[in-house]
Amino acid sequence: MSFPRAFTTGGLTLKSPYLLAPMEGVSDAGFRRVCAQAGAGLGYTEMVRARGIVKRNKSTLALVDTVDPEVPAGVQLLVVNERELRDTFEILAELSHSTHPHFSRIVAVDLNFGCPSSDVLRIGAGPAMLKRRAKLRAIFEALADVKRRAVLPSVASVSAKIRLGLNQSERAHKVYLPVVEMANDTLDHLTVHGRHAQQRSRDAPDWRAIGEAKAHSKIPVVGNGDVVTGADAQRMHQETGCDGVMIARAAIVDPCCFFALTGAPEPAPAAKLARIEAAFALLPPTRDKHREFREELLARLRAQASGQRVEARVPENAHLR
Ligand SMILES: Cc1cc2nc3c(=O)[nH]c(=O)nc-3n(C[C@H](O)[C@H](O)[C@H](O)COP(=O)(O)O)c2cc1C
Repeated sequence: MSFPRAFTTGGLTLKSPYLLAPMEGVSDAGFRRVCAQAGAGLGYTEMVRARGIVKRNKSTLALVDTVDPEVPAGVQLLVVNERELRDTFEILAELSHSTHPHFSRIVAVDLNFGCPSSDVLRIGAGPAMLKRRAKLRAIFEALADVKRRAVLPSVASVSAKIRLGLNQSERAHKVYLPVVEMANDTLDHLTVHGRHAQQRSRDAPDWRAIGEAKAHSKIPVVGNGDVVTGADAQRMHQETGCDGVMIARAAIVDPCCFFALTGAPEPAPAAKLARIEAAFALLPPTRDKHREFREELLARLRAQASGQRVEARVPENAHLR
């Protein structure tokens, strides 16, 4: 069973089933452009707090950096309730007609139910929401409704990204399966990160749970966790039946990893570097954190292009540090 070449989510058919993950401090417009040119089917902004959008907070709005006309992008939101979600859509739509015309390029919206940050968990959001079924259903239904009513008409795909639960106990109780059932009626796809919220990147993801989610699902499932090579992706597809794969840390190590994933010939190190430099020059970093990330990446790739062996320092999800 070989991995499908394309991936359809709602009204979007992506050129590849490899999605670039939302990554705080990493996946800004320039980074998404490099990944898209290398073969990523779709990339998401880092997690954006809906509360900041509702308050029209300038630095929050800047994270919705869908400024690249050539690379359609999704926005990942952290929402705490359905009202906040509806208000966020209204505000994004309003601003798309005035000060922020690039908001009309948002093709997808994903909701974050995976962020393990203590300030997110304290307000009952992120993975803490997985067991709050009535609330979660209301949020999913609101998302389906705003899409149906084309509040932000460019949005063709709505989805959620979940972990396996808040902790080992929730994982053991398979808290994610009722979420799949809810997503079946409301969302265009579901991304399942095969770890619970107390696990770190060094802990092995549980792909069996991704397979279980897929078995209960009527919508496409995107698997996430430790896919680095095309062989990993094939194996995840074979073991779980997933329809797409989300790539995070492998893209930090090499944003051109999508060439190898899709089976396209990989450019030589100097050509890769030139591509990345060009994309970064075209699209300035969205904030200081992205600038620092870019500088480190470019320094490493320059050293590698000149023949040095330099290992990548892959950050943990900043929220877990
Ligand atoms: C630096 C960093 C930042 C991240 N930021 C986010 C985020 O904003 N939203 C999110 O849903 N996941 C975030 N994640 C988690 C990844 O999207 C992904 O679920 C996780 O790294 C597992 O995938 P991987 O094994 O391919 O790295 C982040 C991960 C890293 C390493």
